[in-house]
Amino acid sequence: MADLTPLLAFRWSPRSFDPDAELAQTEAATLLEAARWAPSVGNRQPWRFALGHRDDETFKRILVNLPAAEQRWAARASALVLAAHPRTGHRFVAYDLGQAVAHLTVQATALGLHVRQVTNLDRAGLVADLDLPGDVRPYVVVAVGQLGDPLSLPADLLADETALRHRRPLGEIVLTCENATG
Ligand SMILES: Cc1cc2nc3c(=O)[nH]c(=O)nc-3n(C[C@H](O)[C@H](O)[C@H](O)COP(=O)(O)O)c2cc1C
Repeated sequence: MADLTPLLAFRWSPRSFDPDAELAQTEAATLLEAARWAPSVGNRQPWRFALGHRDDETFKRILVNLPAAEQRWAARASALVLAAHPRTGHRFVAYDLGQAVAHLTVQATALGLHVRQVTNLDRAGLVADLDLPGDVRPYVVVAVGQLGDPLSLPADLLADETALRHRRPLGEIVLTCENATG
């Protein structure tokens, strides 16, 4: 972690968003611009986004399609971004969309913001409530905001929020080829 660029080293996914912080329109535009410039297979850019600012209609319609447990913290975010992809794309559309969201996430860190993602969505509800085109499949919701007071979280979320973060050691994730020669 020590040698990572600070943009990656300081990134983490909080639930304790500041319920009073607002996302400026310029910040929202910058986040989407970062996603727009992600690489993709054949430069097909198979990503679509709907962004709602807290308490606007888009935000409310995204929020109600998250599980109740996630709504408890997501409601405090400054913005909710639905990231979607075309239903009929090539088999790497989810990979490409993930890269676009990763770009958005790094840009959020650069703006002093935090992100937490949710994939457990009512996808049919999102299509209906946001009146999405039929060929668009909701994939993940990205909550964006500023860090708030973790003590304002419900007790179970506070425990998760303050738990140590873990990663598998490199030795577990780097594959070595036992029989490779040379
Ligand atoms: C695709 C994706 C889906 C996620 N879904 C959820 C979710 O449904 N609920 C939640 O609280 N966190 C969710 N997370 C956050 C992860 O739990 C979190 O990124 C992981 O524990 C690593 O923690 P860190 O981001 O702080 O390093 C999701 C993250 C990703 C990338």
